[in-house]
Amino acid sequence: MNKNNIYQLRREQLAKQIFAKTGGGIAIIATAPELARNRDNDFPYRHDSDFFYLTGFEEPGATLVMQIQGEQKNYTLQSHLFCRPKDLEREIWDGFRLGPEAAPKALGIEFAHSTQELDQKLSDLLADQEAIYIRLAESAEADRRLRHWMKEVRAQARSGVNPPSEFHDIETLIHEMRLFKDAHEIDIMRRAAEISARAHVRAMQACKPGMREYQLEAELLHEFRNSGAQSVAYNSIVAGGANSCILHYRAGSTELRSGELCLIDAGCELDGYASDITRTFPVNGKFSGPQRALYDITLAAQEAAISMSKPGNTFMQPHEAALKVLTQGLLDEKLLKLSELGSLENALESGAYRRFYMHRTSHWLGMDVHDVSSYREPIDSLASEKPWRILKSGMVITIEPGLYIRPAYDIDEAFWNIGIRIEDDAVINDSGCELISRGVPVKADEIEALMKNA
Ligand code: GLY
Ligand code: MN
Ligand code: MN
Repeated sequence: MNKNNIYQLRREQLAKQIFAKTGGGIAIIATAPELARNRDNDFPYRHDSDFFYLTGFEEPGATLVMQIQGEQKNYTLQSHLFCRPKDLEREIWDGFRLGPEAAPKALGIEFAHSTQELDQKLSDLLADQEAIYIRLAESAEADRRLRHWMKEVRAQARSGVNPPSEFHDIETLIHEMRLFKDAHEIDIMRRAAEISARAHVRAMQACKPGMREYQLEAELLHEFRNSGAQSVAYNSIVAGGANSCILHYRAGSTELRSGELCLIDAGCELDGYASDITRTFPVNGKFSGPQRALYDITLAAQEAAISMSKPGNTFMQPHEAALKVLTQGLLDEKLLKLSELGSLENALESGAYRRFYMHRTSHWLGMDVHDVSSYREPIDSLASEKPWRILKSGMVITIEPGLYIRPAYDIDEAFWNIGIRIEDDAVINDSGCELISRGVPVKADEIEALMKNA
């Protein structure tokens, strides 16, 4: 085995867990299907993250099958990649295919076969295996294929072949591995965040009253692609004025007006890894008094959450720290009424802040923007609720408090349509966390200075 091949190392790590759980078995994981947009035109292809994590292979139409065979304390792993066969005609139209002949050397995988052989080879590989590790209840098509393979193996029963009798969810194992990023992954995520930060700077500097949201989106996309990022990690939000209070708004065609805020939540995907940054800034380059007051509260909430983002704390502690600062700020600005709520504790306990802050402060970040793995500790527990996950070195989270003030009869008009979110990406390390997205200013004064000097 080549110790430098991270994909091979990950397959080994997965195999070890499978051996420990069931003494061996067959693991099957397919990449994502291609998706037609219309007629001959597909959506841009994006591999499946789990499949890519184990193979580094980006072509569509591929499946990884791992055979883990154990004897007492030892096991052997043999990996088979099923991929599209070479086809000159298709390659002229659609582009290069690695093909099964070149795949073993190129990818460091033991065996490769044409996708057309998948069904036949799988019924051989599944014979006399106890356990299958596969995505369960994924889609009707995946279920149909599994039923087909099982039928083929069951048909050999009279020749003395035993079909598998245990089905295990492969995702839980892979997702637990993906939660902890290695140095290679953190390096890519740092670079992705740097590109996204530059894109936010570019958009802030380009912003002028009278522009449209889609024009700032174009600035973001220019920086992403010009820096080598393959794609956006998610659809960019560029939200002017009242749109900033719509959480899942997309860049539209609203005019950006002087006196209003613009909220941009955008991040690129680089080499399969996401970045996720939000900044909120005044369209005319200068925060108004009410805008600045709420901005500073949101930033203080983010700082409180950042200081709680460290190993040993739970996933919820940064959120709780942010909530406290936001809620105190809402009371100070009289958006929440102390006379009605009585105390900060009551305001927190009653959830009164939810009217203005209705999402969580963090999520995992990785290959997927809302990355995989449970937010609860993976312990065997009979208790109905497992404890929140303890943060550990190598986890990557976002820290993204916000305040969203919609017009209402009981709200001072000066605050109407102010939507603010501040979002950075944090790698948990041994002593705390490293913010990898701070290439774009976050303090109100620094944002104003950047826009003034544009
Ligand atoms: N951009 C999606 C999120 O912030 O969660
Ligand atoms: Mn986010
Ligand atoms: Mn975001």
